[in-house]
Amino acid sequence: MNLGKKVIYQIYPKSFYDSDGDGIGDLRGIISKIPYIAKLNIDMIWFNPFFVSPQHDNGYDIADYYRIDPRFGTMEDFEELVAKLKEINVGVMLDMVFNHCSTDHEWFQKALAGDPKYMKYFYLRKAKPNGDLPTNWQSKFGGPAWKKFGDTDLYYLHLYDKSQADLDWHNPDVRKEAAKVVNFWRDKGVTGFRFDVLNVIGKDEVLVDSTDPVQEKTLYTDTPIVQKYIKELNQASFGQDSETITVGEMSSTSIANSIEYTKPENHELSMVFSFHHLKVDYENGQKWTKKPFDFMELKRLFNEWQSKMDQGDGWQALFWNNHDQPWALNRFGDPVNYREKSAEMLATATHLLRGTPYIYMGEELGMIDPHYYSIHNYVDVECLNAYQELIDEGHSAHDAFEIVKTKSRDNSRVPMHWDASQNAGFTVGKPWLKPTDQQEINVENELTDGEIFNYYQKLIHLRKTEDLISDGHFQAELEDHPQVFAYRRYLDNQAEQLLVLNNFYGYEPWAIIPEDLQNKNAHVIIDNYGEARDIKLKDAIQLKPYQSIAIKITK
Ligand code: GLC
Repeated sequence: MNLGKKVIYQIYPKSFYDSDGDGIGDLRGIISKIPYIAKLNIDMIWFNPFFVSPQHDNGYDIADYYRIDPRFGTMEDFEELVAKLKEINVGVMLDMVFNHCSTDHEWFQKALAGDPKYMKYFYLRKAKPNGDLPTNWQSKFGGPAWKKFGDTDLYYLHLYDKSQADLDWHNPDVRKEAAKVVNFWRDKGVTGFRFDVLNVIGKDEVLVDSTDPVQEKTLYTDTPIVQKYIKELNQASFGQDSETITVGEMSSTSIANSIEYTKPENHELSMVFSFHHLKVDYENGQKWTKKPFDFMELKRLFNEWQSKMDQGDGWQALFWNNHDQPWALNRFGDPVNYREKSAEMLATATHLLRGTPYIYMGEELGMIDPHYYSIHNYVDVECLNAYQELIDEGHSAHDAFEIVKTKSRDNSRVPMHWDASQNAGFTVGKPWLKPTDQQEINVENELTDGEIFNYYQKLIHLRKTEDLISDGHFQAELEDHPQVFAYRRYLDNQAEQLLVLNNFYGYEPWAIIPEDLQNKNAHVIIDNYGEARDIKLKDAIQLKPYQSIAIKITK
């Protein structure tokens, strides 16, 4: 299988399409939209979790890994979805959340009832002799990472919400349960797996206090034991089928570890999601701040990750958006003056890199953060906690709200805009999150008058037809250019080269063409301001606002 020829589309089921009017998207809704999905010619769809869950963290708190939550549909619906997608050659990727399970899960409930077998599934620790919590660790969603375990003298660890109890992977029974879940879904025809926050499963057996928040992460992130557990899971489940595609969501990971997780000879994962490029608009590395993005740092990160992953034979998932991120268009583009051009530029910048691109539903329409005017429009536990913390730290309600607006995960969870109607054609009921801006941005408009969807179709087609894109090496170009992200792709024989220029700004900078490519006959394979065409390369090109252009040179 050539991972470089694959393109994956992400669907957040709760927000894609509601078939029964309860305001929440569902599996039958997705089935009814297959003709739309088919137009993009993607290879696989990653679905965020739709398993039984109390939904404290929108399904990332799983209470039963083997059943579909009735609010999303039935097992028959799921089987029909898999079968219908198979007819159009689209595979299904499911989200496996094994770092933690819901405190409603039978395992946790049995543990609470005192069953010793299940008590060993979790990190249960006593308070310190002075009564303090077992360690000083913080939950990633705010507050301490420990909560009282029923009316015992124990505490359980939760790196995320208090309803998400961390599973103890040191226990071989836990690892067997994980493989069993994966195999259950493989038997249902699932050929892709996304593993949630996989690199934090390897906590030490003895948990100790951290000295500061940065050091704290090292106590449970990317520990060597994670690799051992992934190898074991690979062998016991998905690794038995060479066509299965896997991706590990890696929190605060490194290039060196990402190479180890993905290089084929290690038999771990097909690829990883890493997030450094999505922190270039954080002040001092802190998410709940507001700051314009640092373009030079963004470029530096892309260049470093691409070159080193290429040299180390690692493989990356390429993406800007997902259900945890505000829309990239708001962060790195210009949704007001150049919505279409900047959406296309951002797409080009990642789609022509080395790796496997992911498209988050609605990205192909150029969707943007909703215009909400009150904190009451938001529902996500993470942003509501953060809002409260910002207020407690002394920010005014206005400032705290401005930060939440730019950083909330609800931004990208807003229902898909199908048409211009009041609920964006998503539901006939009351949508669980309110859409805004659907008058302008929606599927109906996009397919008749828009240019972004069509541009994505071209990018996807190019990945499947141009070996330079799917198989080529990466080389950074114009590294010091303050507006243009430029790179070159080339095959081992160097016979063909692809020069990609992306202007991240609304003005018209010049880009110097690398000397060895000057005066060559070349072919523009994609340009968001014009058609594919033959050209003669000069010594420089002036780019239009948010222009992207990819030029193929045959030596
Ligand atoms: C991942 C998911 C996110 C979830 C968290 C805890 O980061 O993408 O949505 O809240 O893990 O499961």
